[in-house]
Amino acid sequence: MSKILLSVTDLSASYGPIRALRGVSLEVREGETVAVVGANGAGKTSLMRAISSLLPLSSGRASFLGHDISKTSTHELARLGMLHVPEGRGTLQTLMVKENLQLAWEIRPSAEPFELALEKVYARFPRLKERADQWAGNLSGGEQQMLSVARAIINRPQLLLIDEPSMGLSPLITKEVFHALAELRDAGVAILLVEQNVKRALALSHRAMVLTHGEFTLQGLARDLMVDPRVMASYMGHAA
Ligand SMILES: Nc1ncnc2c1ncn2[C@@H]1O[C@H](COP(=O)(O)OP(=O)(O)O)[C@@H](O)[C@H]1O
Ligand SMILES: [Mg+2]
Repeated sequence: MSKILLSVTDLSASYGPIRALRGVSLEVREGETVAVVGANGAGKTSLMRAISSLLPLSSGRASFLGHDISKTSTHELARLGMLHVPEGRGTLQTLMVKENLQLAWEIRPSAEPFELALEKVYARFPRLKERADQWAGNLSGGEQQMLSVARAIINRPQLLLIDEPSMGLSPLITKEVFHALAELRDAGVAILLVEQNVKRALALSHRAMVLTHGEFTLQGLARDLMVDPRVMASYMGHAA
């Protein structure tokens, strides 16, 4: 069995009186792609924020490569190899496209020079090359999502946390973004993906769990969940 990257045990987290997560446990191993699906408000974003040390845990434990997440900053976690692409994309709006990519590269500089890594990313997303010297804040929603995935490609995390990569995108750009995620997966990057587009999420992933009101109510292999009547009834617009 491959190495455990992320380990989450009985994690709970709250916003004041609102309990967003109730005793969630999960593991992500090297090279695995795991999807968390669930309705709006289920707690998906809160889970990503708790794992990347942005939302304090009220109980439970989480660790990345053995580092206790509650004692490790988000930036340190990124340096260790866990990159979080937040909902709403998380690009630095007042920096240029190229600068956004350079900062992502500098978190984990590789032996490969930045300029070479940059050319590869531009080959994947030619649109970003055309926009290289524009402020990220001036990009369209689709271009910003490309930029956030491009930051992940150039950063080469061991584990990518990505929150709703298809949100607000046209079907065409969604397809392109998921292609790029599949390439990352095939290159051995582990991915923990949160997504409302259940079909796409399951098609990309090895395993998946359904989050309902802050708890996992169903989990298994993505290919089994894809044909599970409970998933189909709730999230794919089919009758059970
Ligand atoms: N900043 C916040 N303050 C208070 N409540 C929040 C905040 N963010 C999320 N919540 C609540 O926590 C629950 C889970 O939200 P969230 O994690 O954003 O769900 P999802 O990403 O699945 O849509 C919801 O009930 C939501 O209203
Ligand atoms: Mg969310």
